Amino acid sequence: GSSVSPDYLNCVDAAKPDGAPINCCPTSPAGMEITDYIPSPTAITRVRLPAHTANGRDNMVKYRKAVDLMKQLPASDPRSFMQQANVHCAYCNGGYNQEGYSNVRFQVHRSWLFFPFHRWYLYFYERICRKLLQDETFALPFWNYDSPSGMEIPAMFNDSSSSLYDRLRNQDHLPPVVVDLNWGSFLTGISPEKNQIKYNLNLMYKQMITNATTPRLFFGQPYRAGDETPTRSGSGSIEIALHTTIHAWTGDPKQPFTEDMGTFYAAARDPIFYAHHANIDRLWNIWVDKLGGKVFRDPDWLDSSFMFYNEEAKPMIVKVKDCLDSTSLGYIYEDIEIPWLDAKP
Ligand code: C2O
Repeated sequence: GSSVSPDYLNCVDAAKPDGAPINCCPTSPAGMEITDYIPSPTAITRVRLPAHTANGRDNMVKYRKAVDLMKQLPASDPRSFMQQANVHCAYCNGGYNQEGYSNVRFQVHRSWLFFPFHRWYLYFYERICRKLLQDETFALPFWNYDSPSGMEIPAMFNDSSSSLYDRLRNQDHLPPVVVDLNWGSFLTGISPEKNQIKYNLNLMYKQMITNATTPRLFFGQPYRAGDETPTRSGSGSIEIALHTTIHAWTGDPKQPFTEDMGTFYAAARDPIFYAHHANIDRLWNIWVDKLGGKVFRDPDWLDSSFMFYNEEAKPMIVKVKDCLDSTSLGYIYEDIEIPWLDAKP
């Protein structure tokens, strides 16, 4: 096989779940200078904080400001909030074909691309926030739903005067409702508990440890150039539950496709998306650093690539192999207690 990349010069209409076309292409990079990302030492290591703690709340004030500023940029600017949200639509709803395969759509879910794609996506989104805030220390908040005190929608996302608010959420799941990490019962084989918190911790243990004993089980199955669009069985343990379940739990069931969070094309229109994915990204670090998980060595994974716009609105090509260590990208996660480590079901 060989590694997969999107045909980013030829973005096409994506499709909603019912097949209706939707244009979510970014500003075309055709004719622009397109730079390859080159790893370089970073001067500062930023710390991504849990959204619900005291320090996290101070940081959330900055995040709110950053999203405000992104929402004020012209729609033609690839750093604008809507274009950033559309990145997800383009990469997940068929906005790109695979490079060299004009009839095979590129897809970043349900395979080993899931973790690295979203890491890079947040990396550039965070850089754009920093640039707009003119604050080199800013780091994204993470939604710490794997800890009892973080198991509800963090307050600032729920203030209707905030740029972080989204009305397209399940109105029955607003705070203080405890999140259900197995919403829709995706994961079978753990018994529902009356105690939702304990059940969530059991699920964390199961998906991070019991069901994640190999790279394929954790990250997802291989996806190489020319491969058909992966199906659900290609997903890794975390992608399937709790990742997808949080999306479905948060979205508005009164909308046709559980918009915003519950469907690929719209999910990233909700600013909580990025805090959700920061936590997913944190779980990757935990799996490697605390649980001894090993990443793939397969060159087809390492050389897979994506295109993103950076904080200067310049297109960049990145490869999976350059995102394996978050420290080298200039950020870490606050080292907080992990309450599910001893929550074996
Ligand atoms: Cu690209 Cu949380 O999905």
